[in-house]
Amino acid sequence: MLIDSHAHLDDRRFDKDREKIISDLKNNGVEIVINPGSNFLSSVKAVDLSSKFDNIYAAVGIHPHSAKDMDEDTVNLLSELTKKGKVVAIGEIGLDYYYDNSPRDIQKQRFREQIKLAKKLNLPIIVHDRDAHMDTYNIIYEEQNGSLRGVMHSYSSSVEMAKKYINMGFYISFSGPITFKNAKQPKQVAKEIPLDYIMIETDCPYLTPEPHRGKRNEPLNVRYVAGTIAELKGVSFEEVAQKTSKNVRNLFNI
Ligand code: NI
Repeated sequence: MLIDSHAHLDDRRFDKDREKIISDLKNNGVEIVINPGSNFLSSVKAVDLSSKFDNIYAAVGIHPHSAKDMDEDTVNLLSELTKKGKVVAIGEIGLDYYYDNSPRDIQKQRFREQIKLAKKLNLPIIVHDRDAHMDTYNIIYEEQNGSLRGVMHSYSSSVEMAKKYINMGFYISFSGPITFKNAKQPKQVAKEIPLDYIMIETDCPYLTPEPHRGKRNEPLNVRYVAGTIAELKGVSFEEVAQKTSKNVRNLFNI
């Protein structure tokens, strides 16, 4: 059985078939899905899904794209939300310098505030880092108090950086792009870091893996990410399934 460590089943692209997708998971080899929030409303929806379905767990957080919409109260509202449903993390939070949908100084400030919330609540963080590798690393390094843990979602940085995160108590999660032929860097990272620190995810409805590129992504496609990692590391699919699931259960205390 696999665990999809990062899926946005609250996304409106699942409005027509969300329940069917969720109920089909177990019979098709996906035991659990972690659904992070991307803004406040989506965090509420993620929590609702985790209340309604025993195989869905939620994270609450404001994505860097929406950092500009946060105010002083948002962190308190997120904190309240963690008391409902099955909330296992703060996320997804981080920095995105590719789209720059929020000003960078605001992104950094809101990232830090949400890390502090995670530390206060003793919850792990789910980190989004797109083209912001150094700033993301520096903030996590500065905020690391010995108890902060988390996962670098849809990892896209270097092998060296991955090893630094692992040393800081973080996991590295791979998504659809690792299945692409030209994805040299993620493939290299997956080869060089131990399976004990790897998670797999879809980030659906985005980042659809081969051979389904171009279609809407969904949690069942996490099998293609698992298959690619098994191939890269020369281990069985079952070993990837078993170890990555154990890693998710360990980090999120499931
Ligand atoms: Ni995501």
